[in-house]
Amino acid sequence: MPLEYLEKYRPFVNLEGLRKIHAEKESWRTGKLTSKYVDILNEVSELGDIQGETLVNDYVEFQAQLTSDQKDKIEKIAKDLIPWRKGPFKINDLDIDTEWRSNLKWQRIQEKIGSLEGKTILDIGCNNGYYMWQMLKDRPELVLGIDPVPHNMAQFEFINSLTKKENLKFELFGIEDITNFKCLFDVIFSMGIIYHHRHPLEQLIDMRNALTSEGTLILETIGIPGEGSHCLFPEDRYAKMRNVWFLPTLECLKNWMNRTGFVDIEVLSVAETTTEEQRLSPWCPPPFQSLEEFLDPNDKSKTVEGYPAPVRFCLKAKKKVSPQVGF
Ligand SMILES: C[S@@+](CC[C@H](N)C(=O)[O-])C[C@H]1O[C@@H](n2cnc3c(N)ncnc32)[C@H](O)[C@@H]1O
Repeated sequence: MPLEYLEKYRPFVNLEGLRKIHAEKESWRTGKLTSKYVDILNEVSELGDIQGETLVNDYVEFQAQLTSDQKDKIEKIAKDLIPWRKGPFKINDLDIDTEWRSNLKWQRIQEKIGSLEGKTILDIGCNNGYYMWQMLKDRPELVLGIDPVPHNMAQFEFINSLTKKENLKFELFGIEDITNFKCLFDVIFSMGIIYHHRHPLEQLIDMRNALTSEGTLILETIGIPGEGSHCLFPEDRYAKMRNVWFLPTLECLKNWMNRTGFVDIEVLSVAETTTEEQRLSPWCPPPFQSLEEFLDPNDKSKTVEGYPAPVRFCLKAKKKVSPQVGF
């Protein structure tokens, strides 16, 4: 039965609702652009039971004794799964040097997020799950990563077929599905998500509702520099992305959180994105594009559209318990 692992959380999960969504999402198996992942995942399962060691440092790394046939198959699957955006990963000496050096974002926040030991965690828009392996170092109870893109799911399933981490789960759900969770998660990560959606405040409220009464939100987003509480609403594209809606100043972001029921708001990091962190690589090669192509070639403080270049804010906050309802 799908989502069996959520049975133990039943009072906090609309399991029937999620099972319905899960069944609908199965359409990726026959989709024109997505059915290729059925074959790739079959190749993954044909690798068999490979025993090895998982190491998590800047890389999510898997070391094992492999036959040359297994090595070739692993390399073929990894190459079939290009582009690799988030990482890096390593399988023996196969270095999957991804577009993003996601380890740099993790380094900026890991000491400040607090212990994840024994926690129930939701990672919204988890991509291929890179951060989920990072979270695992603290031995959480469950890390559920959701991302509606089958390419990301296939990368996750490939890597986790090797690392075999039972408390990491990936579902093709989107942020819009989290209303099916109430008071379940101790920690929610929303990193690189909120600016991609039209209703940032609604998202914050939905995340608040999905947190336990002592729950913590880690919110990471692109923003804009400057004082005061305002946000940029790009006329059309921002850094060539069509789906960017509201980009807040730091003060505006704090205001959003304050007004949607969060307290103890703490700034964990403010960082400009550089080409050290985001760039094309052999695992995300042209014609894919990266930061270099998104910025004005004559003035790196601006996007190609003339907007302020991305600054990334990461904030941590606690759910404010409502005196009326008690959670
Ligand atoms: C900018 S990336 C951020 C990835 C990762 N969280 C990080 O911080 O590096 C945005 C991610 O959101 C995913 N995504 C797209 N639509 C989504 C939705 N409706 N709900 C949740 N995630 C979504 C994309 O597939 C992508 O992996």
